[in-house]
Amino acid sequence: MSTVPAAPAWPRGFLWGVSSSSYQIEGAAAEDGRAPSIWDTRCRLQGKVARGDTGDVAADHYHRYAEDVALTKTLGVDAYRFSVAWPRVLPRGRGAANPKGLDFYDRLIDAVLAAGIEPWLCLYHWDLPQALDDLGGWTNRDSAGWFADYAALAARRYGDRVKRWATFNEFAVFTLFGYAQDWGAPGIGDRAAHLRTIHHVNLAHGAGADVIRALVPRASIGAIHNRQPIWPEHDTATDRAAAALLDEHWNGAFPDPQLLGHYPPQVASVIEPYVQAGDMARICRPLDWFGLNHYGPIFARADAASTWGFGWGSPPADAPRTEIGWPIYPDAFRDVLLDLTHRYRLPIYVTENGVGGKDTPDETGRVDDPKRISFLRAYIGAMHAAIQAGADVRGYFVWSLLDSFEWGAGYGECFGLVYVSRDTLERIPKSSFRWYADLIAAART
Ligand code: FCB
Repeated sequence: MSTVPAAPAWPRGFLWGVSSSSYQIEGAAAEDGRAPSIWDTRCRLQGKVARGDTGDVAADHYHRYAEDVALTKTLGVDAYRFSVAWPRVLPRGRGAANPKGLDFYDRLIDAVLAAGIEPWLCLYHWDLPQALDDLGGWTNRDSAGWFADYAALAARRYGDRVKRWATFNEFAVFTLFGYAQDWGAPGIGDRAAHLRTIHHVNLAHGAGADVIRALVPRASIGAIHNRQPIWPEHDTATDRAAAALLDEHWNGAFPDPQLLGHYPPQVASVIEPYVQAGDMARICRPLDWFGLNHYGPIFARADAASTWGFGWGSPPADAPRTEIGWPIYPDAFRDVLLDLTHRYRLPIYVTENGVGGKDTPDETGRVDDPKRISFLRAYIGAMHAAIQAGADVRGYFVWSLLDSFEWGAGYGECFGLVYVSRDTLERIPKSSFRWYADLIAAART
């Protein structure tokens, strides 16, 4: 049924995967020595997360990981991307490690490998230990050292079995939403805090990449960036200026220093007080691949009340949208892949792409999600067109394996190929799960 080309149209060795993250699925938030992260804290603040949802139980992956790995095996993916919860392995963020927390990822990695799947480990998917936030978190320049020590612990422990390492997930999102705005943890909303955070997270990335390179033989190291076109909501001078500044923050403030050695111009002019001699060389370290998370374009508008003067506008009224309102523009995905190929000259792995909906089982217990299938078909088709036009794309991961805790939206937005009942935590593969399994099988034959 798929209109997506099967082999031999896909490059040899093209890798198919599925993604997840620690806080969004693990649960067991206070078990076996795990300490709170900044997201545990945020979930307890009134009005920050829809319905007061928390990650306390999430998909209970901490206990059900074997079942979840079995699902990935049924799916037939080559790779499984997950993140380590820093406060599970280092409850205070630094100092004494938590043996039970470290053991969990041993069990998970061993199960993934036993299923014939390559583990892709991301060190930071937004769950900073609260103990470190109490010391200023990413606004404290020492955070780069804290992160490097955490990276060293993980590299020494898992580097014998894990070869694919990502330092951070979506630098721009967690720094902008958590430090310039109050949309994510820790919700500071201050220009200076945001600028410090940008620079310290870049330093942490560079230090972490060096540590992994030194400790993991044959490591393949990357960083995961969201990148999407930023278009002005209205064709006015103020919306165009807002779009240009948001573009620097969203698309440039992390990959440019990490891969080209400099900040984009408007960010450079204000971040300079926080940059010390030698920093840019510490940030710009050799990497093996570019991780791209992409969903759809952003429409920007001038917003005088926001920290930087830019805000999120609406897509045109006639734009196709997902059930949760995100605009659907597969051609923009194709263009981003081509643009990235030329700009940074690294192999690209699409580390997240997918679609949010309001999926529920029908009376027979099936979860049919035809809109997700159409979205994935269109986006995978656009990726194929990009490859045909010369984009260096080596792999693709769907976000996500399971319905997860979706940050401020709580459990109200379902991105999984597998439905997770909030009452029983039962897993039900959706029709998109079967579709993706068939696509992978066809792409290999
Ligand atoms: C990305 C995040 C991921 C998930 C998807 C829907 O920005 O990396 O954790 O929430 O969006």
